[in-house]
Amino acid sequence: MVEICKVGVYKGRAIESFKSSKPDLFAKYMKAANGDGFQVLPEIKSRLKFHEHNLFRPLSHKDDFDLVLVRNVLIYFTGEDQEKVLKLIEPKLKEDGALIIGESESLTHINTGYQPVQPLIYRKNPTSSEKKVA
Ligand SMILES: C[S@@+](CC[C@H](N)C(=O)[O-])C[C@H]1O[C@@H](n2cnc3c(N)ncnc32)[C@H](O)[C@@H]1O
Repeated sequence: MVEICKVGVYKGRAIESFKSSKPDLFAKYMKAANGDGFQVLPEIKSRLKFHEHNLFRPLSHKDDFDLVLVRNVLIYFTGEDQEKVLKLIEPKLKEDGALIIGESESLTHINTGYQPVQPLIYRKNPTSSEKKVA
């Protein structure tokens, strides 16, 4: 999957849906790939990095994240492991950053420092960060 992402050629239903639902964004940021499919413009693609990461290890990236997507990933873990993974992500998520989970997932049954913003979207709880600083 990481190798496919590095190539970055998008085909099929997902890209057709993007094209029809957000035609302005599609026209602004996508171009036809050589052969079949579409690619993100090179000036955007050159800013992207793809690599493997085990969610049970701390994130070592130097910058904090605006967005962390764990869609359809947490569902495979026990509640205890979901807590572990989310606690490792929390320090690297910006105060105004967002954590996005999948439609079949929920954080209501586990103890985390995240608060819901809207369905499937969470921010870290500012008071939990303040507690850590104190
Ligand atoms: C059902 S797929 C979901 C993929 C994608 N997020 C989506 O919604 O299409 C679950 C993904 O979780 C990944 N995964 C499982 N355990 C992981 C771990 N410990 N660290 C990182 N990724 C993990 C798997 O490799 C797989 O790609």
